[in-house]
Amino acid sequence: MAPTLTIPKQKKVNGKSKFLDSGEILDLFKKTKISSGWSFEGVTRSQTSKLSHCYHRYPAKFIPQLVEKLMDEYLIGHGPFHVNDLFMGSGTTLACAIGRGYYVSGTDINYSAELITRAKCTPIEPILLKNRVAKFLEDLSFLNEAGLLSSKKYKPQIPKSKLERIQYWFTPETIEELGIILRRIDCEKDNRAKVFLRCCFSHVLKTCSRWLMSSTKPTIDKNKNIGKPINAFKKHINKMVKGNEAFWEIVPEKVRKDVNKYFIAKRQDARRQPTDDSTVDIQITSSPYVTSYEYADLHQLTTIWLEPEVDLKGYKKEFIGTSAKSNGIRALKSYIGRDIRDNLYKVNKKMADEVEAFFVDMQECFDETHRILKHGGRCCYVIGNTKLKGVDILNAEVFAESMQYSGLEVDRIIKREIPSKILPSKRDAKTGRFAANDKASVFAYPTEYIIIGRKP
Ligand SMILES: C[S@@+](CC[C@H](N)C(=O)[O-])C[C@H]1O[C@@H](n2cnc3c(N)ncnc32)[C@H](O)[C@@H]1O
Repeated sequence: MAPTLTIPKQKKVNGKSKFLDSGEILDLFKKTKISSGWSFEGVTRSQTSKLSHCYHRYPAKFIPQLVEKLMDEYLIGHGPFHVNDLFMGSGTTLACAIGRGYYVSGTDINYSAELITRAKCTPIEPILLKNRVAKFLEDLSFLNEAGLLSSKKYKPQIPKSKLERIQYWFTPETIEELGIILRRIDCEKDNRAKVFLRCCFSHVLKTCSRWLMSSTKPTIDKNKNIGKPINAFKKHINKMVKGNEAFWEIVPEKVRKDVNKYFIAKRQDARRQPTDDSTVDIQITSSPYVTSYEYADLHQLTTIWLEPEVDLKGYKKEFIGTSAKSNGIRALKSYIGRDIRDNLYKVNKKMADEVEAFFVDMQECFDETHRILKHGGRCCYVIGNTKLKGVDILNAEVFAESMQYSGLEVDRIIKREIPSKILPSKRDAKTGRFAANDKASVFAYPTEYIIIGRKP
């Protein structure tokens, strides 16, 4: 049976009346009912992948409708507003905000995330883009003829330092063809078009590899029927071109003219935002989940082809929520978090350490959130709870409690149902890791919370 929580009551910090102690936080969450307006059950797949949101798949990606509703509720008036996402992932928050002409900033430790976000936030004049893409495909038209790969003009660009990994995931013919496509991408003179093409290249890598498409872990699919990369590329780039056209239409002219004035996205740690103190109106983000996704593993195809100098093992440790990390001597402030760690410690010491590291890392993120928010500004953290080794992992409650130690007030808790999840909703009962739905026995994230904090 799962151990129960035994939270001690602590004193209010500096006697501040808005500070909720751990018991009050737990009660608040128990009383919180599902808000039907936040489940977006009528929203179709084509609506969630509208505009540039169709550019790239991404695990645990936001639906744009959720970001738009939060901006509608909290950004009242004319602005100019500044929207931030410290775990930008595929850049949903930033792309939604750029679409409205706001200033945006964000970070992600994942190389793929920076590329996707940059592509998704950069509207390109549609005729110019169509011409660049048509020229690109024309230059590679010789790839359409089955069996004819050799080209004097485009010597395959295959990263030598990662050749072993590349050969593990791709067949020799695919490697050759991808190498030619990549060489042609590197010849692209227009920088925005180049980022657009690289984003498409990154997206089709999974389709063209031996990777089991339905898996949330890097797994070989022995029966996969792998098509020609150029065909997958063409199909996806045409979709992206349409997405760009629709995006261009909605982005205000002042932003189209000088997107770099409005957009700043960096590949760096969430605890170091590329913006000054008290500059952000709203932060809309979803943190990584503890020991669920290993983003470094999941995006390794992009990393080995596009960032071959990266040491995959060392890089993994930089991610928050990874199982490759332990906490060390940093103190965990949240009482709810400490109780969870202690209960987990009784059944699995390593997992207890990973969960503690995750909570402490997140505590440091809330400090950074506090630094960059304007007074009266909001942060919206989307997170779900789960069970690991029979222990309830109350991420949402820990986040709400921890925010207060960083000087934020818990302003509002929204509980939402997730109707068509991109996340797998089950965990393997033994390992606690995400598993294919038919193999697992414990529900992972059937509902989730949006925890809204306010900087007083
Ligand atoms: C749940 S995903 C965000 C998805 C995003 N909301 C979207 O719509 O695509 C969490 C992200 O946190 C990133 N991440 C993990 N550790 C990080 C760190 N130390 N600093 C910055 N980002 C990190 C992961 O790479 C991942 O992209």
